[in-house]
Amino acid sequence: MAPVVSGFSKLSKADKIKWLAEHHFNNDQNTINTLTTYWNSDQKLQQLHDEFTENTISNYYLPFSVAPNFLINGTRYTLPMTIEESSVVAAASKAAKFWQNRGGFKAEVIATTKVGQVHFMYAGDSEKLQRFFTATKPLLLEAVSSITKNMEKRGGGVKEIVLKDKTTEIENYFQLHCTFETVDAMGANFINSCLEQFAKTFVAEAKTYDDFSDHEKNIEIIMSILSNYVPECIVQATVSCPINELPNGVDLSSKQYAKKFVQAVRIAEVEPYRAVTHNKGIMNGIDAVVLATGNDFRAIEAGAHAYAAKDGKYKSLTHAEIQDDQFVFSIKIPLALGTVGGLTSLHPLVKLSLQLLGQPNAKKLMEITAVAGLAQNFAAINSLITTGIQQGHMKMHLMNILNQFEATNTEKEQLIAYFKTNPVSHSEVANQIEKLRS
Ligand code: MEV
Repeated sequence: MAPVVSGFSKLSKADKIKWLAEHHFNNDQNTINTLTTYWNSDQKLQQLHDEFTENTISNYYLPFSVAPNFLINGTRYTLPMTIEESSVVAAASKAAKFWQNRGGFKAEVIATTKVGQVHFMYAGDSEKLQRFFTATKPLLLEAVSSITKNMEKRGGGVKEIVLKDKTTEIENYFQLHCTFETVDAMGANFINSCLEQFAKTFVAEAKTYDDFSDHEKNIEIIMSILSNYVPECIVQATVSCPINELPNGVDLSSKQYAKKFVQAVRIAEVEPYRAVTHNKGIMNGIDAVVLATGNDFRAIEAGAHAYAAKDGKYKSLTHAEIQDDQFVFSIKIPLALGTVGGLTSLHPLVKLSLQLLGQPNAKKLMEITAVAGLAQNFAAINSLITTGIQQGHMKMHLMNILNQFEATNTEKEQLIAYFKTNPVSHSEVANQIEKLRS
């Protein structure tokens, strides 16, 4: 077991690695080499990455890919996607190509309100607290004026503060439930700064509020923090086409395809076990764009899954239906994204991603990202109801398996050709490699 270490954060990068090698890897030189191989020779670039977080000792690469042919509201986009899973980018590209000949994707932001809360304890008369809140609200807004000044210039700011009585759930528990518009910023720092100031002012004003008893003057703040549950920061994306323009084959007519597709989505609307996987596939596309554009994918994930459970049962984020002779497929999802602040002007590949998308504002990025999710889900269901997922997936996964066997370029060429007409499995790749090598 490694010993307790103090002052680790103050060690140089090389000394951190030395400590790690000594206490976790038996001083193995390969470990040190692996970590240092990933250092960038451009010192300035390396320092930039080192300073994104703490205790950085190396870089962790993820593929940076692109998916072309996305026609969204009449504009063609090439989507930047950062994801390690094979098949995802190919599937997105395939879906984009399919829909670009059928009118493309339509997307629309429905609302952009974000939420933050000051959670506090007040042991007293709730009507008195309501009167105190009404009298203090203008002071709360005034107290954050220096924080909100710039945001207001850009069209955002604090939208509303509401006092919520939660005492039926926890004794003495109340909230200041605050809503914000943060325009093109994801807004976490802005929201949290406002909330912490609201909390300070609220507590200070309570101390001098004449109607409060000594006891009531002691409001206890538990915490002030934004919420990643953003059911009022919503975007919708849709594709539709006449049923006879849907795929068809010997086993499945376009009409049967449409019916089967709708059934597959319906299953994810009623069956949580399926819904989670269905939504995971949607998030394959969404997270990849969110990461490439420097947004917080954990926040997006948390918000999306909470939204999927908003009716008390976890269900699909997409919906499919047949309207007369039209097939209509859509997604509705909360996406609190930003195109300014955070990594957006720091990480060179994030900057490039935003450039690739034509420097979108936050609303445009919400639309593009929702489309990535819908396209991914279309591709997944298309495979699931026709060939099954493994056929395409294993073909894409072939390169990973070949790399596991350290196949040479010639071996790769031969085996890729072989597996064009033969089913891919780990054991079959092993067999074929052994044959080639013997
Ligand atoms: C795999 O990463 C995602 C899928 O399982 C999604 C789905 O089943 O809809 C293919």
